[in-house]
Amino acid sequence: MYVCLCNAVTDKAIRKAVRQHNPHTMKQLRDLVPLGTDCGKCIRQARQIMVEERASI
Ligand code: FES
Repeated sequence: MYVCLCNAVTDKAIRKAVRQHNPHTMKQLRDLVPLGTDCGKCIRQARQIMVEERASI
């Protein structure tokens, strides 16, 4: 599923980046995957996915 349509970033890409690099903040996540750079509508959902994935590690 696409989370960031502007940059074609999927939930799988976010989950993979979280598992591999364990980002703690949205800035750290955005350094790993290019989301939230245009309209910003994806930020809230991306944060939720990051939190979920970190909890499952
Ligand atoms: Fe992510 Fe627009 S959907 S910046």
